[in-house]
Amino acid sequence: MNLESGTLAPGTARCPAESTQEIIARDRVPAPAWAASESYEYLGSADVSKDRYIDPAFQRGEFDRLWTRTWQMACREEHIPEVGDYYVYDIGPYSFIVTRVTDTEIRAYVNACLHRGTKLKPSGTTGFANDLKCPFHGWTWNLDGTNTSIPCQWDFSHVDQAKATLPEARVETLGGFVFLNMDPDAPTLADYFGPEIMAHFAAWKLENRYIYLHVQKSYPANWKLVVEAFQEAYHVGDTHPQVAPANGDVNSQYDVYGEHVNRFISTLGVVSPKLYGQYSEQDIIDNFTMGDSSAMGGTKPQLQEGERARQVMADMFRGLFEKAANTSLAHVSDTELLDTYSYTMFPNLYLFPGISLPMIYRFRPDARDHRRCIFEVMFMRPVPDGADRPDPAEPEILRDDQSFMESVGMDPGFGKILDQDTDNLYAQQEGLEASAKSGITLADYQEIRIRHFERAVDKYMALPPLPLDGERMRRP
Ligand code: FES
Ligand SMILES: [Fe+2]
Repeated sequence: MNLESGTLAPGTARCPAESTQEIIARDRVPAPAWAASESYEYLGSADVSKDRYIDPAFQRGEFDRLWTRTWQMACREEHIPEVGDYYVYDIGPYSFIVTRVTDTEIRAYVNACLHRGTKLKPSGTTGFANDLKCPFHGWTWNLDGTNTSIPCQWDFSHVDQAKATLPEARVETLGGFVFLNMDPDAPTLADYFGPEIMAHFAAWKLENRYIYLHVQKSYPANWKLVVEAFQEAYHVGDTHPQVAPANGDVNSQYDVYGEHVNRFISTLGVVSPKLYGQYSEQDIIDNFTMGDSSAMGGTKPQLQEGERARQVMADMFRGLFEKAANTSLAHVSDTELLDTYSYTMFPNLYLFPGISLPMIYRFRPDARDHRRCIFEVMFMRPVPDGADRPDPAEPEILRDDQSFMESVGMDPGFGKILDQDTDNLYAQQEGLEASAKSGITLADYQEIRIRHFERAVDKYMALPPLPLDGERMRRP
C-alpha cells in the first residue's frame, strides 16, 4: 500500500500499522458488538471555515438556532433522587430548573418568573424545594408547574392564574442522564441519537454508575475548539508524549453514527505506531502512566517470555476493578477494561463508557465570551452491589490560574494531560484569530469526528432562529 501515491479513493487511507480492531481481536475475553464494529464515513476534504470559532456573532447565532433545538445533558438522575430535588441547568442565556415532580417524572422549567422575570433559583445551584417561589414579590408555583400564589391578586385581574403555568423544556432520561430539549417539535431522544447508539447505551448500563469526582474549569477557547481537542488522538504524540509508549494513537479507530454521535477507540497496552521498534513489551508496562496510577496496584509486573503487555494489563485491571467494585467482571471484555472509548453526543455531552477511564465531559459555551468554554469532567464508578447509591460529588471549581494538577481528587497524571490540552487551546484560539487562512484543514480519517461535529453545527446554523416560545412550551 503506497499512502503517498494518491491512488486510494478519498477516505480509504488508514494508518498502515496494526488496526484497533486487529488489536482487539487478539484479546482473550472478546469484545461486545458495540466495540467490535466500525462505522466510518467519508464526509469530504474541504477546509472548515474559521468564523465559527472567532466571531462572537456566530456564537450568538448558535444560542437561538442550535441550543434551542438540540438534546442536551442537563444533569444525572442521581443529582435529583427525591421529589422536590432540583438542579439548575444553565446554557448560555438560558436557565432551567430540572426537578423531580414525582418518583417517575422529571420536568425542566424555564428558570424565570412570569411576573417580572426574576430567576426563581440562582444559576449553578442544586437543592430541595416544596414549591418554586420567586424571591422578588413571592409569586409561587407548585412542583407540577401550576401557579399557587399571586400576592395582591386583586391587582392582577388581567392575569389568568390557571394559565400562569411555568413553561418547560422537554425531558427524557437515558442511561441515568437527564436530557432536555427546548424545541416542542424536536425528534424524540431515541430518534435523535439513532437505534444503533440506543443499543450501545443499553449495553453500557450507565444508570448503574454514580459520579464520585466532579471538576469544573473555564477553558480559554471557543467551546467547539475545546470539544474538538478531545476528538482525535492525532495530537497525542506531540502534545502528550508521556503516554505514547503505552497507547495506540495514530492507529485509533474513528466512527460516525447518524447526525449527532461520533466516537473513537484508542487502545492501551500497545505502543504508538510512531515508536515501533523502540519499546519492548516490558517497556510498555513500565511506561504506563495514563489515568489512575494506582490502577496498577502500585506495582508493575515483570512479563514472562512470550507474554503480551496488553493481556497482562487486562488481567490485572480485571482483578483490581473486581475488588474495588466488589463484583465479578469475568464477562467484561479486555477492550472495555483497557481502552479509551469516547463518544460525542452532540452538542454538549462527551462520554467515556469504558471501565478503566469512566468519565463524562460536558462542554458549554460561556454566554459572555465566545472565546471561553465551561468544561466539566465527572468520573463515574459502578454503584457497589447491594449498596445504596452514593450521593454524586459536588463540583470542585478551579480558578483560571489553577492547574488541573491542583485538583484535590484528580490523578495528577491525568491532570497533566488536561493542562497540556489547555495550553494548546490558548494557542489555537489566538492563532486562528491571527491566521491568514480562512479555515482549518482536517485529516480525512483521524479528524472525521471534527468534520462530523461541524456538519451538525452547520445544519442547525442554516435554520432560522428559534426563540423560546412560552406559549408553546406550556402544558395544555
Ligand atoms: S418578579 Fe417574580 S414575583 Fe415579581
Ligand atoms: Fe489531549
